[in-house]
Amino acid sequence: MEKPKSDFVWMNGKFIKWQDSNVHITTHALHYGSSIFEGIRCYNTKNGSAVFKLKEHVKRFFESAKIYRMEIPYSKEEIQKAITETIKKNNLKECYIRPLAYKNDEGMGLNPLNICVDVAIMVWYWGSYLGDGAIDVKVSSWNRMAPNTFPALAKAGGNYINSQLAKMDAVINGYDEAIMLNTNGFVTEGSGENLFLIKDGTIYTPALSDSVLKGITRASVMCIAKEMGYILKEETIPREMLYIADELFFTGTAAEIAPIKSVDKIKIGNGKTGPVTQKIKDKFLSILKTGEPKEWFGFV
Ligand SMILES: Cc1ncc(COP(=O)(O)O)c(C=O)c1O
Repeated sequence: MEKPKSDFVWMNGKFIKWQDSNVHITTHALHYGSSIFEGIRCYNTKNGSAVFKLKEHVKRFFESAKIYRMEIPYSKEEIQKAITETIKKNNLKECYIRPLAYKNDEGMGLNPLNICVDVAIMVWYWGSYLGDGAIDVKVSSWNRMAPNTFPALAKAGGNYINSQLAKMDAVINGYDEAIMLNTNGFVTEGSGENLFLIKDGTIYTPALSDSVLKGITRASVMCIAKEMGYILKEETIPREMLYIADELFFTGTAAEIAPIKSVDKIKIGNGKTGPVTQKIKDKFLSILKTGEPKEWFGFV
């Protein structure tokens, strides 16, 4: 795996050289997962370098912090500006962006309430996360965290221990990615992607109440699909619907739109990217290329 790298990291309002952007070993977040973060992409569009859904990502960043009672010592506008400034400072036209807020090294006890939050923004070039073709997935033997255990709507460091178990389960068994069920046995999402299913011309995606992240790509794809005239349903999906789906695909900032060709070695559709998936993917990619609609971007 290639290590991420650029020249500068934004840390608590200052630019620090990438190699000097370190934290102390007693940092609370390292021990207890007390961090929240975002994954965002900037594209080199026809209208210039632009961050896809910048405002929406920053809004979710603050919502994740609120759920975990974290006080971010900056405004949303300051974080948005810091993101575009970090891209410019690193001379990147296209990149992945990782804002991170974490409980720092002011104390080692479990209780995070009196520990301050430090904020950092990293950017680096990151290609396609799940590759360009259709992928093979497995239903994970690990369930997605149950409601009222970890808040699935928060993009928090600690939550991703659950995702890591599912990802390892998939990779060790020769699959590209996992689909996790919730503790009621219903379909939720991938380890880092939302899921869409197409059956008899209708598009389905699991409801937020089934323990999924409120994905920003998910919302964008829902909007695209509705504009294309498809019937779209957000509802509880039983596991076996995966096996009889006509098409399946993942969505996410890192993965963008990733078609699925098999689940548990059962072929989905004809085992290739399905026609509806392809149409939605083409439209999504054309938005990323053109930077239009402009309201969907924060221009650098
Ligand atoms: C668990 C999980 N689900 C879904 C997603 C997709 O969300 P988004 O489209 O906002 O990147 C991600 C990635 O952020 C994720 O980590």
